[in-house]
Amino acid sequence: MTDVARVVVVTGASGFVATELVTQLLHKGYTVRGTVRSTKNAEKTAHLRALGEVFAGKLDLHEADLLQDGSFDDVVQGAYYVFHTASPYQLGVEDPENELVKPAKEGTLNLLKSVAKSKDTVKRVVLTSSFAAMVKVSKGPADGKLYRDTDWNDESKADKDGGYLYSKTVAEKTAWEFCKEHGIDLVTINPTAVFGPVISKRADGTSVKQIKGIIEHTASSVSPWACDLQDVGRAHVLAAEVPKAHGRYLVTWPKLLNGKEVMQVLAKRFPQYKFPEDVSDSDSKEYADVSKLEKELGMTITPWQTSFIDMATSLIAHGVAKPVQA
Ligand SMILES: NC(=O)c1ccc[n+]([C@@H]2O[C@H](COP(=O)([O-])OP(=O)(O)OC[C@H]3O[C@@H](n4cnc5c(N)ncnc54)[C@H](OP(=O)(O)O)[C@@H]3O)[C@@H](O)[C@H]2O)c1
Repeated sequence: MTDVARVVVVTGASGFVATELVTQLLHKGYTVRGTVRSTKNAEKTAHLRALGEVFAGKLDLHEADLLQDGSFDDVVQGAYYVFHTASPYQLGVEDPENELVKPAKEGTLNLLKSVAKSKDTVKRVVLTSSFAAMVKVSKGPADGKLYRDTDWNDESKADKDGGYLYSKTVAEKTAWEFCKEHGIDLVTINPTAVFGPVISKRADGTSVKQIKGIIEHTASSVSPWACDLQDVGRAHVLAAEVPKAHGRYLVTWPKLLNGKEVMQVLAKRFPQYKFPEDVSDSDSKEYADVSKLEKELGMTITPWQTSFIDMATSLIAHGVAKPVQA
């Protein structure tokens, strides 16, 4: 019989962030039940099947949809930790209410209702929330200086610009309310824009589209609020494993990312390719306090240079991004 302490669920396992999390969990010896919308979608699941061959018998794929009642009941039953990453991450969509807010909020509720039915085994839920649920684009952080785990986004709306930010805020609030009411142990991970090496050849995720765009000169900005993919994976695992972990964890590089410096680092590493020169700039000032993450989870933040070099290397190697010759 499988030891229940080692069985975990990752929703949206085929996504950019979840693929990294699944990989880290497999390396740590967990048995992973990953949910995907369709097990028949080869383009989205090929990399997970390859991982399943390396970690034989340790990764099962289950179909589940955020908008389908009871979709997660079976997969959650008997699990020990549940990582809820599935949520649409697309910017500037036409119908934010139906494309983002509804799946984010109702999907979180659906998942948590399944957890409530399996409370005898599920020890903790780790929700992939976002800095989107903390940031106040016009007002700035509550203390006027640094964003921290206590900041809440109270200004985004379900419109074209703010739809994604709003969807993550509403989903996280819904999760806290439901878990309080049902006695579920919840921890949230709130990353800024995530960058790091890809395992999959998918090109439809927002993080991948941004760096593919930079490499192919179809984009000229990098989010100034950003963090490392492997750090985000580690934060999820530690948030589940560390008994005293609680509340929200902002995962980010504490200083604003300067797009020009990112281009310089890429140009130095890949002298054979050209990178855009007219990119967004920033003053690299400190804007976030990550001491809770460092103190309570014992995390050390990976230098941003590593993340961008590794991401560009993997996107080019997988043929996802076609670089421009120098
Ligand atoms: N990447 C970032 O910069 C970033 C930053 C902060 C927080 N996050 C959060 O991290 C999580 C993953 O994002 P990501 O960057 O990895 O994006 P992604 O690659 O687009 O992954 C999104 C995942 O959500 C799943 N999903 C979307 N709609 C669904 C539905 N109706 N039913 C079931 N699954 C559904 C997708 O399934 P398919 O594989 O079938 O498409 C995919 O697995 C999200 O919660 C996002 O808000 C991301």
